[in-house]
Amino acid sequence: MDLISLEGISRFYGEGETLVKALDEVDLKIEEGEIVALLGPSGSGKTTLLNVISALDVPTDGNYQFRGQKVPLGHVEKMTTFRRENVGYIFQFFNLISDLTAEENVLLVQQLSGLNDRERAKKMLSLVGLSGLENRFPAQMSGGQRQRVAIARALAKSPRIILGDELTGNLDSKTSRQVMEALIDIVRAESSTLIYVTHDEKLTKYATRVIKLDSGKIVSDESGELASTIGHAKDSARKLVKEVSKLGGSVSSTINRIKDSF
Ligand SMILES: Nc1ncnc2c1ncn2[C@@H]1O[C@H](COP(=O)(O)OP(=O)(O)OP(=O)(O)O)[C@@H](O)[C@H]1O
Ligand SMILES: [Mg+2]
Repeated sequence: MDLISLEGISRFYGEGETLVKALDEVDLKIEEGEIVALLGPSGSGKTTLLNVISALDVPTDGNYQFRGQKVPLGHVEKMTTFRRENVGYIFQFFNLISDLTAEENVLLVQQLSGLNDRERAKKMLSLVGLSGLENRFPAQMSGGQRQRVAIARALAKSPRIILGDELTGNLDSKTSRQVMEALIDIVRAESSTLIYVTHDEKLTKYATRVIKLDSGKIVSDESGELASTIGHAKDSARKLVKEVSKLGGSVSSTINRIKDSF
């Protein structure tokens, strides 16, 4: 079953001469475990697409199903519940609450989704490299550290889908890389699904799939470098298994001999 299924999704603004087609009949299916990089020029509809997927916005037209269920678009409270239960959103400008410490920021969002798992909150902060900084306030942290808190916060509630809108847009290239690598490591370890918007072609190397938007339409949809890396690793493993099984008896007797000599 697809995690996300969008059919004929449009989002228009204005009318007549001022009509803007932010999304224009987009069809898109995303499976669990995919890591999708979303690219496209400014104004092409990237943020609008993430907002529709996270049910922050209601499309003008089209069908949106999440795990085979119709998303309750138009019912404000149900949309909020859908978001809290399923979506981890990482914003470009972090949106941390300045009066709360790093750990409290993570716990707050986790509790909103009905979870209270301090251990997981701490684990996420440690996985993004923030052990020891749990009690710092946002103002006492660097941009890269704040973005890591925002990532830990989005992941702490174990969302089914993680969305990042230019999540490294404010960081220098070295910090961007470190933040992306921390995020991708966790996403892969937990087999989570991630869609991230980026302007930086270099940052598509973490994706299993690269989708390009232009004027509200998907203009290209290809596998990413990560998919081919995973493919190569699987091929090599398969070859190795074949070789070993060809060796068969001789390998096991060698192993037994080695074992016997210790
Ligand atoms: N609230 C709004 N009212 C009117 N037009 C809007 C609104 N929000 C977005 N748009 C228009 O919809 C189009 C798509 O906007 P969107 O924010 O999705 O682009 P984007 O690809 O995220 O761009 P960027 O890379 O600059 O963030 C743009 O032409 C934008 O001007
Ligand atoms: Mg945008």
